[in-house]
Amino acid sequence: MKIAVVGATGATGRRVVQQALAQGHNVTAVARHPERLSSADRLSFVQGDVLSPGGLTGALDGVEAVISCIGPEKNLSPGTLMSVGVASILTECKRANVRRFIMQSGIGLSDGHELSCPNRFVVRVSGRIFTAAVTDKAVAERMTQKTDMEWVIVRPVVLADKSAKGRYTAGPLARVAPLVPLSFDDCADCLLRAATDEPNWIGKIVNVGS
Ligand SMILES: NC(=O)c1ccc[n+]([C@@H]2O[C@H](COP(=O)([O-])OP(=O)(O)OC[C@H]3O[C@@H](n4cnc5c(N)ncnc54)[C@H](OP(=O)(O)O)[C@@H]3O)[C@@H](O)[C@H]2O)c1
Repeated sequence: MKIAVVGATGATGRRVVQQALAQGHNVTAVARHPERLSSADRLSFVQGDVLSPGGLTGALDGVEAVISCIGPEKNLSPGTLMSVGVASILTECKRANVRRFIMQSGIGLSDGHELSCPNRFVVRVSGRIFTAAVTDKAVAERMTQKTDMEWVIVRPVVLADKSAKGRYTAGPLARVAPLVPLSFDDCADCLLRAATDEPNWIGKIVNVGS
């Protein structure tokens, strides 16, 4: 498949690019500073800022699935990166006739009803601390849900730079533990599954964690 990763220089985005290449896909890495990535066979680069008007024009031509791994630098002052950025990705997806869109969101967007009682408390408290980030991501999630593309919203738990377990819990309304870290690699694997497989996830919010 031809897959584009937006936010390809981030902790998750880099792993999605590596794993997609290892699986034999053709990958377009879209990033503000694509020169930070090493070149590889089947990998092309597009310089693009999701906040700059028209900043993605042409970036997604010929792409079948787009994975957004963008995220704000500071969760306490996130600005409008997610709402404005995802809107600009979706506009370009539509122009380029992209079939599937995967948005990396976060478990903090859950209202907690599918989680255990203590974990429901955890997401509610974190929602109060990171209100601005949750509000901005909620707008991005709603826009994603309104597209007529095949979409999947992936909500990971807290992520960590540790070895992939290869075994994790993922699925619509999956009961995950928000504070038990998942490796970036396992999260990347889940995002790629959402982009290339998993027909039952289309049009759903998928929690991923342990
Ligand atoms: N890390 C966690 O524990 C965790 C847990 C749950 C959910 N999430 C969510 O998952 C997503 C990815 O997380 P992460 O930890 O992999 O993020 P990250 O390492 O901070 O990477 C964020 C990416 O977004 C890119 N970006 C920021 N502003 C941009 C812009 N204006 N135009 C284009 N690209 C832009 C960054 O590019 P530059 O390299 O140019 O800065 C970077 O590639 C985020 O939405 C985050 O909130 C993270």
